[in-house]
Amino acid sequence: MNQQPHSIARPVLKWAGGKGRLLPELLARVPDEFNAYHEPFVGGGALFFALAGQGRIRRAYLSDANAGLIDVYLALRNAVEEVIAALGQHAYEREHYYRVRALRPEALTLPERAARVIYLNKTCYNGLYRENRAGQFNVPFGRYKNPTICDEPNLRAASAVLQGVDIARRRFSTVLDYAQPGNFVYFDPPYHPVSPTANFTTYDRDGFGPDDQRQLRDVFAALADKGVRAMLSNSDMPFVRDLYAGFHIEQLYAARAVNSKANGRGKVAELLICNF
Ligand SMILES: C[S@@+](CC[C@H](N)C(=O)[O-])C[C@H]1O[C@@H](n2cnc3c(N)ncnc32)[C@H](O)[C@@H]1O
Repeated sequence: MNQQPHSIARPVLKWAGGKGRLLPELLARVPDEFNAYHEPFVGGGALFFALAGQGRIRRAYLSDANAGLIDVYLALRNAVEEVIAALGQHAYEREHYYRVRALRPEALTLPERAARVIYLNKTCYNGLYRENRAGQFNVPFGRYKNPTICDEPNLRAASAVLQGVDIARRRFSTVLDYAQPGNFVYFDPPYHPVSPTANFTTYDRDGFGPDDQRQLRDVFAALADKGVRAMLSNSDMPFVRDLYAGFHIEQLYAARAVNSKANGRGKVAELLICNF
């Protein structure tokens, strides 16, 4: 892949659970040398773009269960100019927003689908992509001063670092089939909820429950047996600490973007777990 992009690419999408605020902590713990990088819950891909900007990625495999998200990365890799042209058809305007939101992705080309997801992400309420049980994007129109719908330099920079990258929609567990000894995997799954009312685990129509968390732990352990180094983020909850007992667990504090309490300085603990 392109080792020296013309400019550093930043994440293209704002995504629930984005890791921007924890980047220095994460970057410091990534091994100096690894021959391929895997991100099976890629989301906004904050760590991937940061590592790519540092020239630390030789080969990469990015995947996620969310089809719209994968469309964005595939289209940027294969047809960035068509994505830019398709974004040119969109405007920050309420009626246009609801028309675009109602479009069926199946009826669009790949660059049009990618432009639709990017446009909705930049103009929707809170800037967070969320789907209902039927897999439809259902977030209302958001209030912004003058949102940048098409950041051409960044889209081209993202396209440059995505050249040669393996991008696919698939479940996280398949990483066991293709990760090789000497590779490095970063898992940023939907977090185990911090309270019974915190309903932030349903990122897609399939949801992500305790059984998925257990399967993820088994994959994490199996990778260690295979000689694949893996790092994983999750919430600081007893269930998570129990699952990963025996692995190296650290507590990190992230500044929170939303709902920050004035007195608590908006810091919330989470866990970073390594199998190496
Ligand atoms: C916490 S987000 C990732 C955040 C990302 N690292 C970032 O920096 O923005 C979790 C992701 O897991 C995906 N996901 C949910 N269930 C999955 C599964 N079974 N397999 C793979 N991905 C899944 C969601 O679509 C979502 O994008």
